[in-house]
Amino acid sequence: MMNETIGLLKQHRSIRKFTKDPVTAEQLDAILTAAQQASTSSNMQAYSVIGITDKELRSELAKLAGNQAYIEESSVFLVWCADLYRWEQAAKRHYDEEILSTTENFIIGTVDAALAAQNAAVAAESLGLGIVYIGGIRNQPEQISELLELPQHVYPVFGMCIGVPDQSPLDRPRLPRSAVYYENSYNTSTIDSNIDAYDETMSNYMRARSNGKAGTTWSEAMAAKAGPVRMHMRSFLQKQGFELE
Ligand SMILES: Cc1cc2nc3c(=O)[nH]c(=O)nc-3n(C[C@H](O)[C@H](O)[C@H](O)COP(=O)(O)O)c2cc1C
Repeated sequence: MMNETIGLLKQHRSIRKFTKDPVTAEQLDAILTAAQQASTSSNMQAYSVIGITDKELRSELAKLAGNQAYIEESSVFLVWCADLYRWEQAAKRHYDEEILSTTENFIIGTVDAALAAQNAAVAAESLGLGIVYIGGIRNQPEQISELLELPQHVYPVFGMCIGVPDQSPLDRPRLPRSAVYYENSYNTSTIDSNIDAYDETMSNYMRARSNGKAGTTWSEAMAAKAGPVRMHMRSFLQKQGFELE
């Protein structure tokens, strides 16, 4: 089954090269309206988004996020934050006991930020714009939080570049449906064959893509993520006041 919305979602590819054309104020307004309309746990709206309009600050952030050039080149750069600070300010007007920093609320803030961001991404793409998420924002989250003056109980989950696409990358194939969708219970017996099938798909895709290492399989790429990655996150989150009780 196909309609305009599903067709748009199917068209998604991350864009890492942008023209110099601006995202207009009207477009950004529409993107943020879409973001704010996302579902949100108990209407907590436990996220904030910071638009980086200052050129020098943008440049600093690009360096801190792994020198990804498109952070500087995109018309718009947004930092999506999980935000329990504002919620706390509201709650403490009516709650006299200590407000705990719970794992549950940490999950709520992170999920709310992701849902709002993905609405923004889809809205941007519906306007003919391109986006890429930037997890690199968590490479040096402490410095980034300082630059953005984030209060306690707020942390940057990821960034997002938005701009007019200057490339049309190949559609990156996804896992077979049976690898991600189960009925009624999880089924481990098909995982190996699905990994085999997807390894072959991704190896062909990487060969077809000029900038990919020829023939790299998915499981090889996943092994590269199996070591210690961003091990600073736990102590960083503690510093930001996330005790995760
Ligand atoms: C939370 C998150 C963080 C990401 N961080 C980066 C990043 O720092 N740099 C980058 O080039 N792409 C980043 N990506 C994009 C993914 O690599 C991309 O979505 C994935 O490979 C699938 O490709 P596609 O979006 O083109 O379909 C990120 C995606 C997500 C969801």
